[in-house]
Amino acid sequence: MRGLRLGVLVSGSGSNLQSIIDAVENGKLKSQIVCVISNKEQAYGLERARGHNLPAIFINPKAGSYDEVLLNTLKEHEVDLVVLAGYLKIIDKELIEAYKGRIINIHPSLLPKYGGKGYYGIHVHEAVIAAGEKESGATVHHVDIGIDTGDTILQRKLEVYAEDTAESLQKRILSEIEHKILVEAIALLEGRA
Ligand code: GRF
Repeated sequence: MRGLRLGVLVSGSGSNLQSIIDAVENGKLKSQIVCVISNKEQAYGLERARGHNLPAIFINPKAGSYDEVLLNTLKEHEVDLVVLAGYLKIIDKELIEAYKGRIINIHPSLLPKYGGKGYYGIHVHEAVIAAGEKESGATVHHVDIGIDTGDTILQRKLEVYAEDTAESLQKRILSEIEHKILVEAIALLEGRA
């Protein structure tokens, strides 16, 4: 059983990317990260990648050929599995076709709840708190043509405390759930490859 060649897409801090880097470095994953790509030049995720000598590639979303360049970059690096780790840009249809069944995303809610347009980052947790939910969590799912609609690979929940704010909930979901299930989901897919 060989590992996968991972292409990780980030738009922000990249703490989920860091959990994959750590799992590769400590041998929990057999896969390797072959490139980290961002639509944001200043994304800290790119900085993390450089710190671990991983190819860190910024693709300018204002250059008209963004989706084409992204697809070509993934192909050039012979990526097997595309991991969306806090990537805040809609994935183009052609990329979904080219990597059918081989793109996964992490979302900080119990999908199908709090998924879809407008539910990203802190907004997800604000909505959960506003609705008075007793539990929340995160989901790793396959990416299809919809937003946050693909088949679930792993989902895990935790209790929402009465004193939780959107920020405290976001922090706990990230550290207690996201950073674990993203790595576990990749390990599951390694097993199937
Ligand atoms: C995470 O909550 C992820 O689920 C969401 O965006 C956030 C990214 O965090 N899609 P980070 O950049 O991995 O720290």
